[in-house]
Amino acid sequence: MLTNQYTELKYVTYGDESELDEEDLKLIKSARKACETSYSPYSQFQVGAALLLENNEIISGSNQENSSYPAGLCAERVALFHAGAGHSNQTIKKIAVTAKKEGSNHYIPVTPCGSCRQVMLEYEVKQNSPIEVIMQIADNKWIKTLSTEVLLPFCFNKNSL
Ligand code: THU
Repeated sequence: MLTNQYTELKYVTYGDESELDEEDLKLIKSARKACETSYSPYSQFQVGAALLLENNEIISGSNQENSSYPAGLCAERVALFHAGAGHSNQTIKKIAVTAKKEGSNHYIPVTPCGSCRQVMLEYEVKQNSPIEVIMQIADNKWIKTLSTEVLLPFCFNKNSL
């Protein structure tokens, strides 16, 4: 049998949102609120992200699109760069990511894109402590990874240079 660090279970699965603890639910609520600030006229896909800092402050962000499509930015990176620029002395404890279609009240599954995973990993390595990632992966199914590294196996980071 082949085993390696990536086959270990480094995430927790929840059968329903209500199984998450109060701190996580509060963060999800902030991420959902951030969906309302999404500027997504091209995809109508509203994403909200919220970070919990060590001092218990919550920093949120939403996706910001552009008529020149690649110039837009995902919600996770908007929140992460905001924290990196304005709260660089604070460790990021966790991030929650949520999504819905414009005009709907129904939140749908979303997992961070590859670039956002890479950026999360950068901050994790920088602060030398794991960042938990909370996300909905299906109807009534939630996952919390215990670090961002779980989302990016065989990753490239500053230690690779
Ligand atoms: N998006 C995010 O903001 N975060 C993700 O994790 C996935 C995708 C945004 C980018 C774009 O504005 C829209 O969702 C559709 O891809």
